[in-house]
Amino acid sequence: MINDEFPTAPNSVEGYQVGIDAVDCMKFRDSLKRTPRMLNRLFSESELLECAESPRRHLRLAARFGAKEAVWKLLGVGLGGVDFKDVEVKSEKSGKPSVFLHGRALKLADAKGMHDISISLTHTNSVAIAIAIAKKNNDGKDSA
Ligand SMILES: CC(C)(COP(=O)(O)OP(=O)(O)OC[C@H]1O[C@@H](n2cnc3c(N)ncnc32)[C@H](O)[C@@H]1OP(=O)(O)O)[C@@H](O)C(=O)NCCC(=O)NCCS
Repeated sequence: MINDEFPTAPNSVEGYQVGIDAVDCMKFRDSLKRTPRMLNRLFSESELLECAESPRRHLRLAARFGAKEAVWKLLGVGLGGVDFKDVEVKSEKSGKPSVFLHGRALKLADAKGMHDISISLTHTNSVAIAIAIAKKNNDGKDSA
């Protein structure tokens, strides 16, 4: 039995919560072309500004879209549970992305005892991937 073989093995993810998402960059670009008003519904002014000058704009936005969905998973909500703009990505000068929660996303994270959320992004021409990880207090309520 595994528990007997490794009686003291800790649960390596205890105290943490993760979320991940992958976005098809071509489909994402096509959707934006078809429905440009989506841009302002999905992204904050700062996110749009940060990606504005890039020739890889749609890849960077796809990664940020993925980050929003990764944070939704982390928070345990689906489409409609939290506004897209309630999860906002900002990049440091080094390029390292950080995530900021607003509105209902912030309330949910607080209620669930989640804090110090980190994200990491990557994108190729075809796929963008985002992963989010949060520290979780033991007293956080999963049913929040
Ligand atoms: C980090 C780096 C190596 C990634 O390059 P890459 O493999 O070609 O690119 P990927 O598609 O896998 O990842 C791109 C994403 O990495 C993230 N990223 C960029 N710099 C980062 C950094 N310093 N730390 C963490 N993540 C970083 C960004 O979110 C970026 O996406 P964005 O431009 O849409 O915001 C490259 O961006 C780089 O050299 N950055 C500057 C140097 C640096 O600070 N390196 C950190 C080493 S400790």
